[in-house]
Amino acid sequence: MKKILKPLAHNQSLKGECQVPPDKSIAQRSVILAGIAKGESIINNFPMAGDPQSTLSIMEKLGLEIEKNQNTLKIKGQGIQGLKEPSQILDCGNSGTGFRLIMGLMAGHPAGFFSVLSGDQSLSKRPMKRVTEPLKSLGAQIWGRENASKAPICIIGKSLNGGSIKTAVASAQLKSALLLAGLNAQAPLIITEPVASRNHTEIMLQSFGANFKQVDELTVQISPNSLKATEINIPGDFSSAAFLIAAALIIPNSELTIKQIGLNPTRIGFLEVVKKMGANLQVDYNQQSPDQEPIGNITVKSSNLKAVCLEGSLIANIIDEIPIISLLAARAEGITEIKNAEELRVKESDRLKVMFEVLTGLGVKVSEKPDGLIIEGQPDKPFESKQKTFEAYHDHRIAMTIKIASLICLNEIVLNGSEWASVSFPSFYDLLDNLTK
Ligand code: S3P
Repeated sequence: MKKILKPLAHNQSLKGECQVPPDKSIAQRSVILAGIAKGESIINNFPMAGDPQSTLSIMEKLGLEIEKNQNTLKIKGQGIQGLKEPSQILDCGNSGTGFRLIMGLMAGHPAGFFSVLSGDQSLSKRPMKRVTEPLKSLGAQIWGRENASKAPICIIGKSLNGGSIKTAVASAQLKSALLLAGLNAQAPLIITEPVASRNHTEIMLQSFGANFKQVDELTVQISPNSLKATEINIPGDFSSAAFLIAAALIIPNSELTIKQIGLNPTRIGFLEVVKKMGANLQVDYNQQSPDQEPIGNITVKSSNLKAVCLEGSLIANIIDEIPIISLLAARAEGITEIKNAEELRVKESDRLKVMFEVLTGLGVKVSEKPDGLIIEGQPDKPFESKQKTFEAYHDHRIAMTIKIASLICLNEIVLNGSEWASVSFPSFYDLLDNLTK
């Protein structure tokens, strides 16, 4: 869908209080774990966004009874054996998280179910071998296009062997797929990552009473046992909030408060980055119980930004925020370097290539490296787009980055694929309009 994006008028800024949609990473995990727990789980604040809805409908295809009352789900789990062999293809849509976690679940399902997983055009290009290989090393039966490296993927489940796995990439999707398979394995499974990735699955496994242990910063252990139903409250998605924070930072005279955001330390590297860039922001943590995800409110005011260098273990923590950080870098004083970010090439789009294209189109001096970007900031010169139409490339975070850029562009631009924002943030354009004063 094409959308004409108009710049803000000189006297307009972003002002007010708001909330962002519930966290899509936490939501997808909640419906999967509730589906294999015993008893009735309650999930509060389940999102309407595309990715979580895709995973919800997969769990329904696996025979799960789900009572929906607005954003509250009541899930009657009957343990892993309560699931049914699916009679239809499990279509994960655009969701890499859904696809990879469901692969782990189905590969380790002890009842020998046959399942076929598919996805949309973007998901069908994404690498799956990083998950199928380690699962196969535990005895999983998996087939798929290009030697089980791309969707569609077929699986015949079985209880897998335990053991130790060192993953080649820092990926919470991979780690979570292995943890789900490990829940029904024949012996404990130990997983070590090269760099710590987000830990939502680990937190939630403990809420569901799993036999889980955090061995050290990079190593987790899961021992087979059954899960008990629980209640999960899904906080606002930090990665969605990052777009609003970024917009407030670069639009003069803005002041926004975003409430009830998930502030899990493995997700909020973006806050450290923007603070280093000179952001004027305040984080207020809310009370929480120790086994829950941390939440809080963030107040942000427009700020003069300066360049940063981003590399190393920080990259895993800001993996979803790099497109919008690249835009901030284009408004910061100095030259920003982003290194060690080759994972961005295998997200919903090749985000390094696409951000190079977007920034170049906005008149910014940028160079593309195999593992990152070098961006020359232009704090005093507004974006003056050389191209009229910008492409979202089936990528929600690219669509939203282009929209934020358009607000401070000298001229109107066209966004092709604006609808992709609804994968994580269906109310994105309306919310920005409402906050514009
Ligand atoms: C996610 C993990 C990250 C992230 C994605 C969601 C998750 O992917 O980019 O948006 O929910 O586990 P990787 O695990 O591939 O790094």
